[in-house]
Amino acid sequence: TTATQIDPSADTNFAIATHRTQAESALTAVKQQLGQQYWPLIDGERVQTEKKVQSVNPSNPTEIVGTVGQINIAQAEDAIAAAKAAFQTWKRTSAKERADILRRAANLLEARRHELNAWMVFEAGKPLQQADVEVSEAVDFCRYYAAEMERLDPKIIYDVAGESDRYFYRPKGIVLVISPWNFPLAIPTGMTVAALVTGNCVLLKPAAVTSVIAAKLSEILVEAGIPKGVFQYVPGSGSTVGAHLVKHPAVQMIVFTGSQEVGCEIYANAAVLQPGQRHLKRVVAEMGGKNAIIVDESADLDQAVQGVVYSAFGYSGQKCSACSRVVVLASVYDAFVARLVEATKSLNVGIAADPGTKVGPVIDEAAQQRIRETIDKGKTEANLALQLPAPETGYFVGPVIFTEVDPHSSLAQEEIFGPVLSVIKAQSFEEGVAIANNTNFALTGGLYSRTPSHIEQAKTEFEVGNLYINRSITGAIVARQPFGGYKLSGVGSKAGGPDYLLQFLDPRTVTENI
Ligand code: SER
Repeated sequence: TTATQIDPSADTNFAIATHRTQAESALTAVKQQLGQQYWPLIDGERVQTEKKVQSVNPSNPTEIVGTVGQINIAQAEDAIAAAKAAFQTWKRTSAKERADILRRAANLLEARRHELNAWMVFEAGKPLQQADVEVSEAVDFCRYYAAEMERLDPKIIYDVAGESDRYFYRPKGIVLVISPWNFPLAIPTGMTVAALVTGNCVLLKPAAVTSVIAAKLSEILVEAGIPKGVFQYVPGSGSTVGAHLVKHPAVQMIVFTGSQEVGCEIYANAAVLQPGQRHLKRVVAEMGGKNAIIVDESADLDQAVQGVVYSAFGYSGQKCSACSRVVVLASVYDAFVARLVEATKSLNVGIAADPGTKVGPVIDEAAQQRIRETIDKGKTEANLALQLPAPETGYFVGPVIFTEVDPHSSLAQEEIFGPVLSVIKAQSFEEGVAIANNTNFALTGGLYSRTPSHIEQAKTEFEVGNLYINRSITGAIVARQPFGGYKLSGVGSKAGGPDYLLQFLDPRTVTENI
């Protein structure tokens, strides 16, 4: 079958001097806008709140990126009421009209690319190039889901003589989107616009630490023409407002990306039928990974080292797709480790706004503490092959490589979400695949090999949602590498893939005797 195709949004070529100048001017301009106040968007109005949180720059935490109003339970109820009312009109709006709003949003995102990059540099600690590919991904989600909705819109005809049989979809209703900080623009955009284009009303509750970027997204969606009440931006505390909305009887669906712990809690809470609730909720949850790359004896080691370093340490290892284990065959183990350590030593660790930075900070102090503790514990379990120094100010953790890691140890089993890579030795390719598969997760995985039988074996036996052969394992492209995993990595179909929108719809059949 033919897949829906889009022209992918082009990343910025920072080798071109004018592009670098644009990027620098955007950084300067955004720096002057730091510290402003952002309010939730409820029923088309920016509403004031009692509670506020400050979002800070992880490269320099004394710098306040913005102050964001936090809704309370009464305001959450206002948002639900507004969404209920808006749904009556939105569900009758044509798929074409909804898709066109997404296309306008895509154009606005592209037009504000350098500015959005700068916000991600300051609020998420993302080095510029990592931020830039995220804008492209957000744009691609808008254009792809617009095209996908138009593909799904025509009624399917199953007519026989004397009988009309039509199959079509209805939107579910109110969708709660709970988005993560690690892709603070692309992931909330993808989850939100998928729900909107299918005719649902959305309440977006972003991760607190990156809620200014989510506020920028909310401005763009409003400017693109999303009617009031159809999209609402509702930052608030997860344990109070978030939990209240998850349990709310009017919410039909929860779309979440984040930790396994929170994902499991949402899944359990959403399963409880509340008084007055006339449906069962659907939960789509993208959670963690403990992703492995296998390097066999036939691998091009230069290519493998480069791919592993980028996959493990890009955005400080804080992508759910990041490589956290590399499983190396014994015959090339020493050579690979020596080159891996040398290549990692050349990574510049520094503030995200510095164009020379390859590894920026981690997201916040709690993450820094947690990762440091994991490293200290790791030192008792495995051999510390490298620990790069990191700046004192800011939430930095220098890249760490552990070798001779026991595949059953906590270092090799628990998700770290930081720049910590474990190297594991395997005696045979079969053992390598078994080690790679032996975790709770099945998100991404990679193989470096020039042995056709190994490549074939990996295609069938490597238990991951996204397998990458002879390349890095992060940076899935919408419509080309639909993204998502199984096992404890998540529940639901792949983002940026052909089944994604179906999750936001209920199918109906109408039969007419004629
Ligand atoms: N889609 C991202 C990647 O592939 C992870 O969320 O890196």
